[in-house]
Amino acid sequence: SIPVILDTDPGIDDAAAISVLLTDPRFDVRLITTVAGNVSVAKTTKNVLKLTHFFQRADVAVARGAEKPLIKPYQDAANIHGASGMAGYDFAEPTTQIIQKPAVEAMRDTLLASQEKLTVVAVGAYTNLAMLLQHYPEVQAKIDRVVVMGGSLSGGNMTSVAEFNVFTDPDAAKIVFESGLDITMIGLDVTLKALLTAESMVTLSQMNLTGEMLTGLFRAYGDGSMQAGKPMHDVNTLFYLLSPEKYTIKDYWVDVVTTGPAIGATVADIHAKTHQQTNIHVATAIDAAAFNAWFLLEIAKIQDA
Ligand code: BDR
Ligand code: CA
Repeated sequence: SIPVILDTDPGIDDAAAISVLLTDPRFDVRLITTVAGNVSVAKTTKNVLKLTHFFQRADVAVARGAEKPLIKPYQDAANIHGASGMAGYDFAEPTTQIIQKPAVEAMRDTLLASQEKLTVVAVGAYTNLAMLLQHYPEVQAKIDRVVVMGGSLSGGNMTSVAEFNVFTDPDAAKIVFESGLDITMIGLDVTLKALLTAESMVTLSQMNLTGEMLTGLFRAYGDGSMQAGKPMHDVNTLFYLLSPEKYTIKDYWVDVVTTGPAIGATVADIHAKTHQQTNIHVATAIDAAAFNAWFLLEIAKIQDA
């Protein structure tokens, strides 16, 4: 199984990713850390606990992370994900709890204590990860690879050029992208091509309790119109880890714009004009039908408690 640290800001598509992560034995979840993004970190943390409770995974360590971006003022996306961040389903009050260590220290300790190198999956703003790399550079040797949802080479969802996770904390994204770690960027270039279709949602709604829960969330999700389907952004990082052959990957040097009207843009040197090296593996195409089929199968496998 793949040993993973997940950094997240649930968030409806985050909740779908966490549903897979907590139930598929091919993932070995070592830690979940939270960050301010779609909603405040108090809410994203509560939302992760709602999910560890829902899936009866009190064994999974959850640590609360950054309250705001490194430099840029914080702005949420409650207009898309609802006031709680996970609108559309009435979760039970969680009895699962956070560990008493901030996210960055929890990440450091988890990495340093691990026998093998870990995969870091970051599907919110990369604030925690940037702080980790700045404060504890010794952990880099314990990170096998980083897979992020975020960025775009083909237009943004926050501004004409910026994707939400990078736009939320561009300074953090720049630190991570220039860290020298092995980084794969799963951005809007692929996530907007692999929508959960209306047909898949009907199947999902009839499947089991998890299917019902996710259908509730997706119906409340303000991202995308029901006609085209619902974006499943963060879930793509997991499909990529399990089935990389379903994605086209190109290696580029990618810069993050941290000031001015293009703030939050990820710009690839596609003609290798300014950089001899590459720093990011960028997902540029996806087999969308395979993604829908895989996701339905993942949820169908989950047994009701
Ligand atoms: C990203 O922004 C968030 O709103 C989603 O959860 C996803 O991580 C998509 O741009
Ligand atoms: Ca997210």
